[in-house]
Amino acid sequence: IDRDSFTPEHERLYHATLEQSLRAGHAILKGGGSALDAVEAATVIMEDAPMFNAGKGAVFTAEAKNELDASIMDGRALQAGAVGGVTTVKNPIRAARAVMEQSPHVLFTNRGAEKFASDNGLEMVDPKYFFTERRWIQIQTWLKQQEAKAKPHAAAEPDRHADYFSTVGCVALDTKGNIAAGTSTGGMTGKRFGRIGDSPIIGAGTYADNRTAGISCTGHGEFFIRHAVAFDVSARMKYANESIKQAAKTVVQETLKKAGGRGGVIG
Ligand code: GLY
Repeated sequence: IDRDSFTPEHERLYHATLEQSLRAGHAILKGGGSALDAVEAATVIMEDAPMFNAGKGAVFTAEAKNELDASIMDGRALQAGAVGGVTTVKNPIRAARAVMEQSPHVLFTNRGAEKFASDNGLEMVDPKYFFTERRWIQIQTWLKQQEAKAKPHAAAEPDRHADYFSTVGCVALDTKGNIAAGTSTGGMTGKRFGRIGDSPIIGAGTYADNRTAGISCTGHGEFFIRHAVAFDVSARMKYANESIKQAAKTVVQETLKKAGGRGGVIG
């Protein structure tokens, strides 16, 4: 998110929803519930809030559609589930969890993911559910920028792509010592039809291992996939004995920056 574009009202809304999300997860953990339940509950609140780029507030593709990606991972047994490119699943994080728990697979995409979610009793919505005016204005602006860029002798515009992604994620550690991580997103404004980002790719956008950490990423997905960012943070902790702070700093501030990628991780 580009903080310059924030009004005080925006900021208040973001903070209030983040607090609601944190409290939902915290209540589950405090009651002895699992890290997985906490991650799901906290993420659903952000997916249902229109200001986050996930679920209801998802950004539009270049074809002015909403295609959502999500994943979840259980650090106890290294189990994981994910969905990519879904257009009718209200809460993609729930679908990701269903993939992990109700199938022998890790990742379903598009219609296969939607059928799986529907067969598993998840709430399905008309694609129009994901329309929000703010994201609509964003895609119209983006489309105009692309048109202007395509003109000969177009002036170089600064690329404000920070406006265009803002994935949500959650990491939790429960009283039994189990770690879970989850990530959910609408991807990037103006992404091509069918493009899948890092969020549903285990090891890129999400990773959890009880022996190291839970990691959930936000940023320019292609870079996070190429550099297996979530797994790299965990691997540095495991193999090089780095602290989570050290590992995350190296991956985000050195590896990603050198490659030209932008974003961040929570862990
Ligand atoms: N990190 C979200 C995406 O690139 O789709």
